[in-house]
Amino acid sequence: MRPLVAHIDLDALRHNYRLACRCAPQSRSVAVIKADAYGHGALACARALEADVPAFAVACIEEALSLREGGIQAPIVLLEGIFDADELALVDEHRLWISVHSAWQVEALLSYSPRQPIPVWLKVDSGMHRLGFSPEQVASVWQRLVDAPQVTALHLMSHFASADAQDPSVFNQQMRVLQGLADELKAPLCLANSPATLAWPVAHGDWNRPGVMLYGSDPLEVANDVTRQLRPVMSLRSKIIALRELDTGEQVGYGGRWKAPRPSKIAVVAAGYGDGYDRHAVDGTPVLVNGQRCPIAGKVSMDMLTVDVTDVPEAAIGSEVVLWGAASNGAVLPVDEVARYCATISYTLLTGVLPRAPRRYHGANV
Ligand SMILES: Cc1ncc(COP(=O)(O)O)c(C=O)c1O
Repeated sequence: MRPLVAHIDLDALRHNYRLACRCAPQSRSVAVIKADAYGHGALACARALEADVPAFAVACIEEALSLREGGIQAPIVLLEGIFDADELALVDEHRLWISVHSAWQVEALLSYSPRQPIPVWLKVDSGMHRLGFSPEQVASVWQRLVDAPQVTALHLMSHFASADAQDPSVFNQQMRVLQGLADELKAPLCLANSPATLAWPVAHGDWNRPGVMLYGSDPLEVANDVTRQLRPVMSLRSKIIALRELDTGEQVGYGGRWKAPRPSKIAVVAAGYGDGYDRHAVDGTPVLVNGQRCPIAGKVSMDMLTVDVTDVPEAAIGSEVVLWGAASNGAVLPVDEVARYCATISYTLLTGVLPRAPRRYHGANV
């Protein structure tokens, strides 16, 4: 069998979720498991967390229904609400919660007669200018929803554009808008994503919505004492399948991007962009070979990548190679670090791992 496997540590997931809760003891934290739990497998992650979490959050009804089909009973909120008025029947049948970000969604909801009132998170555009009602529109929409028999457990919800940044100016501006609305309407809030959960207690509301931190990625520009306790959930591991001895000046891979600066030993690893490993990885992007850091040498191919193992004499065919996450010997290569070498963020690497890399689950409930 091809040796590439995405190992998913469900105990680490539960540890990270509990850390998020400890950061915000006055809030309830939904576990954000959209996009197949950021590539980790939504159903397995939901099963591992269900005993601890008061609710899950997904992007759309398809994601919610597959959780219900898998037996998940906990409340599930649709972060983008309905995409079509017809979905309300399913929302009602499956006891889903919805966010409402647009006028047409309000009209659809108020024209529908659910069997039981639907919990609603009213989305405010507090400055990100993506989804939500403008602050000036919120009070009138809020009042209509408060008065509507279709609606229960109404909250104000918003999303931060820069909660991860050290410069607090954008965050503070959004927070001023939201605090003003919360005071005026006496509205309970749901605001904090992972960086706000970790770094901005002022944003902790009735509910928080941590996502990426649950998977062990540190969303802050500068790590702190809490983020250093996060544990990687996905460890993307493969093996060396071939070795090459090169003379000084010989080149490796497509376009010959890497040229040996000295007599070198190159390992070929079974992992490539056809598995979701980022083709933008530059020479020097780290991997762990037998737990030791080694640099990628040459462009990533579809099924393989090449690594300079000159300084790891014991590297051999079959040696373990960790693309990110934890090695068998306990060494860790943070996905955030790999992302920086690929000029991207951990979110794209984690959600980008393709089904060709099978997930293997360890820990809680498996
Ligand atoms: C509306 C909303 N809430 C919460 C989250 C979770 O954010 P994070 O993964 O940064 O914690 C996201 C993620 O994109 C989101 O779109």
